[in-house]
Amino acid sequence: MRKADVIIVGSGIAALQLAVHISRRLHVIVLTKSKMQQSNSFLAQGGIAAAMGEDDHPASHFQDTIDAGRYVNDHEAVWKLTAEAPDIIQELIGYNCQFDYDREGGLHLGKEGAHSHARIIHGGGDQTGRRIVDGLLEKLGSNIQIYEDESVYELLIQEDGSCNGVRSKSKDGNLQDILAPHVVLATGGCGQLYSYTSNAQEVTGDGIALAYWAGARVKDMEFVQFHPTLLFHNGKTRGLVSEAVRGAGARLVDGFGNYLMEGVHPFRDLAPRHVVAQEIFNSIQNGFAVYLDVTSMADFEQRFPTAAKLCAQYGVQGKIPVAPGCHFLMGGVATDHVGRTNITGLYAIGEVACTGIHGANRLASNSLLEGLVYGRRLAQHLSAQDPLWFFPKKPSDCVHQNPPCLTLPVKEEIQRTMMDRVGIVRNDKSLREQLSWIESFELNKWMTADFSQLTKVQWEIIAMLQTCWLITTAALERTESRGGHYRIDFPNENKGWENQHLTKKLEKRTVHESVQA
Ligand code: SIN
Repeated sequence: MRKADVIIVGSGIAALQLAVHISRRLHVIVLTKSKMQQSNSFLAQGGIAAAMGEDDHPASHFQDTIDAGRYVNDHEAVWKLTAEAPDIIQELIGYNCQFDYDREGGLHLGKEGAHSHARIIHGGGDQTGRRIVDGLLEKLGSNIQIYEDESVYELLIQEDGSCNGVRSKSKDGNLQDILAPHVVLATGGCGQLYSYTSNAQEVTGDGIALAYWAGARVKDMEFVQFHPTLLFHNGKTRGLVSEAVRGAGARLVDGFGNYLMEGVHPFRDLAPRHVVAQEIFNSIQNGFAVYLDVTSMADFEQRFPTAAKLCAQYGVQGKIPVAPGCHFLMGGVATDHVGRTNITGLYAIGEVACTGIHGANRLASNSLLEGLVYGRRLAQHLSAQDPLWFFPKKPSDCVHQNPPCLTLPVKEEIQRTMMDRVGIVRNDKSLREQLSWIESFELNKWMTADFSQLTKVQWEIIAMLQTCWLITTAALERTESRGGHYRIDFPNENKGWENQHLTKKLEKRTVHESVQA
């Protein structure tokens, strides 16, 4: 049986940042269900927010984060994050990450939605994620083993409730138990639960389902962010057109050339994401297409090569037809300021975690920042731990049922129903419809099944249904609108809900024999 000091599940920026900081001292195993460079982080066009401009200050970054998050953020967590941001940028520069500079040789600071200052650092225009991932991969220490195409389908939980390893399956169907005193979920969010999405294929909510089944607390799941501008072609979204394009002057227009955001919000095209997304959604629902007009930008192709290439692929230029799509989950596995969950030995960092930073709506370019800050902080925390006397032995076989003879929906059905009923605009009826649809698949029976007998696709569908259930029940319970959670039957923010958080926790699914001597 394999063992390590730290197991990291996932390979995005939070995972890599943690690995870079510990893989010289500690033995690290990274498990990723596809390839190292297939993650939302790698796709990320938008940059990293940090108050580095002459007239800027972390206090202003803090205030913008809280305003966008509609005041349900954890203030202390936001304060620490915004204060740490400039140092994170300096560290990445030290790693040789290639950021964009202005003519005077200073970092080029861009503007994005709901920021009061230009403070977004980009690399290669809209290739920031790729540049940071490449920089971090170069810096990995030697004490690391990476398993690609390896799906974690269960967390190993001991009788005392602590986590000490994972069960995984390779592409060829080989099963393995890997033991470690520290297991870190860095699996990203759940953008693939929706038919319109900016997220990579792999991002199906696995980490949230794994943690929930193990007894972790899951929080704020009703807060899902829809990005306003995904290229919309032949009735499907085809990928992100970064908010930085609007930051550089592009405008949202209707079919007659009228500016869509005029009179809607003082920040117009750079209003908070949920405001812009809802405006575009309403227009499309009323039968009027919306376009991102880049005709006045002489250098669109040079400044935004990823978006320009995407548009060229679909034969689009000048006025880019856009629609909103699922982009980010503000909720997730509840953690403290270093990434600890309520389960000893289990940690969560990056989008899978709910740190309280984002509140009800994430401020643009705060997500790569969060992954980098928490990856580094968790590394410092783990490095400071006393070495554990860890004598793993094989966990006992636990009592699992055979998988039930029930049919499961296909991925596209989940995505379509979530988009229609738990999407940008929700109401009691649509949420109840979706809840009863999800519950018709009898998740409680699947939960006690032997997951090792399932295919990767079956397991993924069950994890998706579980995550959908968590979002839908929370969305039903929060009878107000706030940030990314918009209910047409409760269209206003309600003061009584401010600072109220919906948290769910399941009694643990299985118990394994203690593996510690
Ligand atoms: C974007 O480039 O518009 C996305 C950036 C982000 O989500 O922070």
